[in-house]
Amino acid sequence: MSLISKILRGTKDILPEKTEEWRRVKDSIYKVFLDGGYQEIITPTIESTALFKRDKDDTSDVIQKEMYSFLDKGNRDISLKPEGTASVVRSVVETGLINNSLPLKLFYFTQCFRYEKPQQGRYREFYQFGAELFGSESFLAELDIIYYIDKFFKKLELENIHLEINSIGCDECRPIYIDILKEYLYKQDKFCETCKNRGETNPLRSFDCKNPLCKELLEKAPLINSHICSVCKGHDHDLKQALDQLNISYTSNPKIVRGLDYYNKTVFEFTSKEIGSQGAICGGGRYDKLVSEIGGKQTPAVGFGIGFERLIMIIEHQNKHSKLSEKVDIYIANIEKSTLETTIKIFKKLDNDGFKVLFDIMGRSLKSQFKYADKISAKKVLIIGKQEMEEGIFLLKNMETSSQQVFNINDFLEGKTII
Ligand code: HAM
Repeated sequence: MSLISKILRGTKDILPEKTEEWRRVKDSIYKVFLDGGYQEIITPTIESTALFKRDKDDTSDVIQKEMYSFLDKGNRDISLKPEGTASVVRSVVETGLINNSLPLKLFYFTQCFRYEKPQQGRYREFYQFGAELFGSESFLAELDIIYYIDKFFKKLELENIHLEINSIGCDECRPIYIDILKEYLYKQDKFCETCKNRGETNPLRSFDCKNPLCKELLEKAPLINSHICSVCKGHDHDLKQALDQLNISYTSNPKIVRGLDYYNKTVFEFTSKEIGSQGAICGGGRYDKLVSEIGGKQTPAVGFGIGFERLIMIIEHQNKHSKLSEKVDIYIANIEKSTLETTIKIFKKLDNDGFKVLFDIMGRSLKSQFKYADKISAKKVLIIGKQEMEEGIFLLKNMETSSQQVFNINDFLEGKTII
């Protein structure tokens, strides 16, 4: 085989054996958020680079180093979206949706692109399920968002996923803390070059440094939770109290700083230790200034993004497929010319009755058909051969117990017997 081109590094094909799982998980999360009053929004894959590169002081790697940006044929500076939030904000401002009644609660499932070093759980093209809630300054907005994420994880019966929360303060208190942290970083000469530079730009990001010596030095660094103002403290306290009441467990982690620059007050992450080094499944927080930065009226907002590949990795790791799987209820085997008409009637009735029913299209031996039924996890196999036709019956074999039931064809078609 000589392919003219192979798949690009950091991208992947999602083959049928996986797409089914993806769809089930998607259906499940859609249901949770639709029931929670969120509506779906779809935004373009490409946007003006200026939408993401808003601020010359932005220090996030995602925006500064990892964007797929290019000039199009009309010389426009375009980027593949590295995340969903900025596009949603642009859309709700540009279309005026944000001027309708608030709160505005939206969710999305979107491809994102980041030029990162690929590894397990880290791709250059990946999918995010995310939601954004606009219009509320109250901690109840964070509660709403976190409640439905937690509900979804519980619905999938996922275990060992930890919620970590922090408050990174507001425009009043954060600058004071940043000065204190800067001083600490400057005083210690042993920090790596990147951290020293971060001292100038965004010292908070040092908490993300992987250098062991920096990590050690940061153990003793002043932490933001003891420097936030009373308003931020109150917000953080009220949120945590409400989470306690709802039995949603969390850890306060004053070292959480998010990779994107737009947050204030609450930031949070859901993490797992079971999928290797890329354990952050979900990240989010409050961003009260982004809407006005993008050109809308000042509107408070909270949101999150779940990395879909990482979510699927956890589901696979914890072997939660069977809980999600909608097995084929009935597989109709052994269709012959002489039985075709009756079999089609039976198929239609089963389908109308709401069974998930498939029929043989290959005409292989009965033995092979049973093998196939097993492969597609059919619960029951319906057999109707010449002999059964003559007797006016069909057989239904339970694949789990191997027991077999006999049904009268006419009684079944007339609705006198039920399966
Ligand atoms: P983020 O933390 O950059 O936040 O990304 C959210 C999630 O996307 C991460 O927790 C991770 O699971 C997944 N993710 C990030 N990069 C990759 C990658 N290279 N490969 C695979 N998965 C990845 C945001 O994007 C914000 N927009 C979240 C948000 C919404 N905040 C407020 N509203």
